[in-house]
Amino acid sequence: MKKRKNIITVAIDSPAAAGAGTQAKLIAKHYNLFYLDTGKIYRYIGRLKLKNQSQFSYNLVKTKIKNLKLNYLKNKILLNNNVAISASDVAKDKKIRNIVHKFQKKYAYNPPKKYRGSVLDGRDIITVQIKDAMFKFYITASLKVRAKRRYNEYKNLNNKVPYPEVLKSLRNRDKSDKKREYGPLKKTKDSILINTTKLSKKACFKKIKLIMDNKLNN
Ligand code: C5P
Repeated sequence: MKKRKNIITVAIDSPAAAGAGTQAKLIAKHYNLFYLDTGKIYRYIGRLKLKNQSQFSYNLVKTKIKNLKLNYLKNKILLNNNVAISASDVAKDKKIRNIVHKFQKKYAYNPPKKYRGSVLDGRDIITVQIKDAMFKFYITASLKVRAKRRYNEYKNLNNKVPYPEVLKSLRNRDKSDKKREYGPLKKTKDSILINTTKLSKKACFKKIKLIMDNKLNN
């Protein structure tokens, strides 16, 4: 694949609700980068499976991803807990991952011209997808803090899921994402660890910005 030259590429991996999406958006805004939340693509496929149990097939996924408009990923329904669980399930499938990879790489290496580069977050971005990214971060936080954050997010969306259920769902997803055969979630040696358990959004971004500016200005 042809890659646009001299662009800034940022790859972020993280378990669910660790704050990667928030930081990715802040990075994108500050450095004028194109942002792709790769989890949303798996959520989109997860929802497709929930809706079309009997007709769900690789061909259907291929066609849908080929015609996928970025706007579709903004659908609030993709934030639901049942969609997240289904996403984690379809994400175990190597064939499905390969279909998603093509879509992601296109945007990572050839972001729309008005951007200086790209920032992608997900579960296999630093390990498989954008191994050669200029910046690689692994963002994490304790399970309890992540569950509390996700619980509050659901509450704000008027989608009340009891806290114990959120905690259980995150624990199961962590397990499934870390133990799966293809593209498991893991930190690489060359990625920078950012633990957001005790960090505010602002403090976390300050840390990331320092690291990025240091390299970009040298
Ligand atoms: O990040 P988010 O919670 O939206 O991701 C939903 C699910 O999609 C994750 O639990 C994970 O199983 C899967 N995923 C993945 N690879 C990515 C992004 C998400 O397997 N790059």
